[in-house]
Amino acid sequence: MQLAQTIQLFIYLVVPLMIDPIMTFSALAIAIVLSIPFLFLKQRSYFLGKANTETANKNMSVISEIFSGLRVIIANSKQEKMINLHKNVFTQHVNATIKSQILAQSIQSIYYPIGIAAAICSMGISVYLGMKLSDTAIVLWSLFRAIPILGTLIRTNINISNFIPSYEQLEILKDRANQSSIDNGEVKLVNFKDKIIFKDVEFYYSSNKPIFNKLDIQIFSNKLNAIIGKSGSGKSTLLDLLMRMQIPTKGNIFIDGIDLQDLDINSYRNIIGYVPQEPFLFNGTIKDNLLWAAENKTDKEILEACELANAKSFIINTTDSLETFIGDNGIMLSGGQKQRISIARSLLRKPQILILDEPTSALDNETEIAIKETINNLKNKLTIIVVTHRLGLIEKANNIINIDKLNNQVI
Ligand SMILES: Nc1ncnc2c1ncn2[C@@H]1O[C@H](COP(=O)(O)OP(=O)(O)OP(=O)(O)O)[C@@H](O)[C@H]1O
Ligand SMILES: [Mg+2]
Repeated sequence: MQLAQTIQLFIYLVVPLMIDPIMTFSALAIAIVLSIPFLFLKQRSYFLGKANTETANKNMSVISEIFSGLRVIIANSKQEKMINLHKNVFTQHVNATIKSQILAQSIQSIYYPIGIAAAICSMGISVYLGMKLSDTAIVLWSLFRAIPILGTLIRTNINISNFIPSYEQLEILKDRANQSSIDNGEVKLVNFKDKIIFKDVEFYYSSNKPIFNKLDIQIFSNKLNAIIGKSGSGKSTLLDLLMRMQIPTKGNIFIDGIDLQDLDINSYRNIIGYVPQEPFLFNGTIKDNLLWAAENKTDKEILEACELANAKSFIINTTDSLETFIGDNGIMLSGGQKQRISIARSLLRKPQILILDEPTSALDNETEIAIKETINNLKNKLTIIVVTHRLGLIEKANNIINIDKLNNQVI
């Protein structure tokens, strides 16, 4: 826009410059001198833009928090509190937006009469110097055209300062994403045959307190590997390290002797089936959710996976069976049903390594026993890594890693 406006401005000034350079230059000089104070508004515009970006961020974060915490809010009768909180941040955002919009819109309106006054002054100079009135009229007409463009040019320039803070925010996010990006290796993993070794693994989150300090563990293929330990001891973190969602601060993790950092991470994750501690389901049908991680599976294969996860009986009893719609994050299902679908989804992928983080935390005893049987049946066919507080689930485990008892474990 600025480039187009500058070119336009030159075109409008060619004729007056040819007819009456003195009047044109004096009008331009006055207009430019008068626009200098406006350029000081750039700083103000930048700060208003910054306030606008910050309040917009806050507003969005409160809205999304309210929606995701709706149940907790209603159960605690805190609707009023949250509505007021939102009103508050929204009002702040409205105020910030109004200020920056007023600044943006008023610049041009204020500049226009000032510019016209500059043109009229220069006309006076021109007449005083004895220019022909007809020439002066043509020049004045061109100047009247050119001056609003100059006004727009100043306005867009100041508007850019208003947008810089949100652009900077984007750059900061990009930098942070680049800093925490995980380098991808080149070695493709097709089959996991032998074992995973954690060697002298040290890991910190942002604080100085290490979660792991010289952690040495082994996970064996085609065995049932159990990870146990107190709440907060680092079991889920260990799984994150294993899937390279987090990178050890020191030390290495080897998969069949290959350093995890040299592996093509997608090839590795392709052979993994992961059931997170908090099951996450997409808004859609049960079938959509199951096929999401493993496309092209037949209904027969889907039902087999559901049977293994002990989910089949409840699914076929719902009105639309596999086509039952489950809502946002499976809101129409019970906690245990969500957990079982989440297990079925990872089994459907036919993974070589099945990672289960507290797979039975929301299940009753009977269902837990069924899941236990599934785990025991799969035990020699694939590698299972299960994190659990329920020791009954891992009676037949071949390898038990007790995080609390590891020598150098700090927490
Ligand atoms: N993203 C994070 N940033 C900072 N600290 C974290 C983060 N995630 C976990 N922690 C901390 O790391 C420690 C280990 O957490 P982790 O989730 O691995 O525990 P856990 O053994 O899985 O516990 P639980 O049995 O309750 O699931 C905890 O003290 C926790 O506060
Ligand atoms: Mg955990």
